[in-house]
Amino acid sequence: MTEARIIPLNDRIRSDVAHNARVWNHWLGGKDNYPVDRAVGDRVTGMYPSIGEVARADRAFLGRAVRYLAGDAGIGQFLDIGTGLPTAGNTHEVAQHTAPDSRIVYVDNDPAVLVHARALLTSSPEGATEYIEADARHPERILRAVEPTLDLKKPVAVMLLGTLNFVLDTDEAQHIVRTLMDAVPSGSHLVLTHPTLELGGEGNEAAMRFWNENATPPITARSRAEFAAFLTGLELVEPGIVSCARWRAEPGAVEVAQFGAVARKR
Ligand SMILES: C[S@@+](CC[C@H](N)C(=O)[O-])C[C@H]1O[C@@H](n2cnc3c(N)ncnc32)[C@H](O)[C@@H]1O
Repeated sequence: MTEARIIPLNDRIRSDVAHNARVWNHWLGGKDNYPVDRAVGDRVTGMYPSIGEVARADRAFLGRAVRYLAGDAGIGQFLDIGTGLPTAGNTHEVAQHTAPDSRIVYVDNDPAVLVHARALLTSSPEGATEYIEADARHPERILRAVEPTLDLKKPVAVMLLGTLNFVLDTDEAQHIVRTLMDAVPSGSHLVLTHPTLELGGEGNEAAMRFWNENATPPITARSRAEFAAFLTGLELVEPGIVSCARWRAEPGAVEVAQFGAVARKR
């Protein structure tokens, strides 16, 4: 019988291959990345100059969506899958600023995020934050692990921001969304962002090809119809499916090639 070997965390972090969480951090102006992440990130920016705007627009969307959910929608629990490296305006900071007793579970499968997870665990005394290292492809496992931080009998905001694009098979991505949304009660919400080739984004397609040959994990874009299918059976919150830059944003916000939407489970 072979003995199970525990691989130390630092041995699991590959500093020779660009990783999405760290490159995303670079595009957001963060410092938690390696030379290989900066090199690949800058090559992508050379091909697809608006990628930095996409990353910033996605984070700004997160802020507006979470403020709406913790405020007007009265949601007290957040399951943020594909969290990314900590940055300004993490989900718990935004939610607890509005409702200090908000409870947040973060999930990511990149070991670099685990290293920095302490920064995600600075909950208000009234609320709670938890970090789980897990793969979005195992939603049942995630659902088992979120309790007791989250009470799945009460509404939850399930957040998959820039994450389903790393699940290349659309049926599998659909299964993830359905499994998560089936497990939460009426009044819960789904919050999504996803890259697309349909909203402009000069150079996006070539940059994704370059990414898939040089970095990890591989990525895919989806059409509006595919994005809308993730929200089937849910009630879209105004303004519906738009570029995430335009979701409840100031008039005149410049569109980026990333869909964003919030929808409520009836
Ligand atoms: C583009 S970043 C988005 C980060 C954050 N949600 C945001 O919107 O700023 C995608 C994140 O998803 C994570 N991720 C990718 N595939 C994943 C998977 N199969 N399971 C869990 N996390 C995943 C990456 O490690 C990365 O941190």
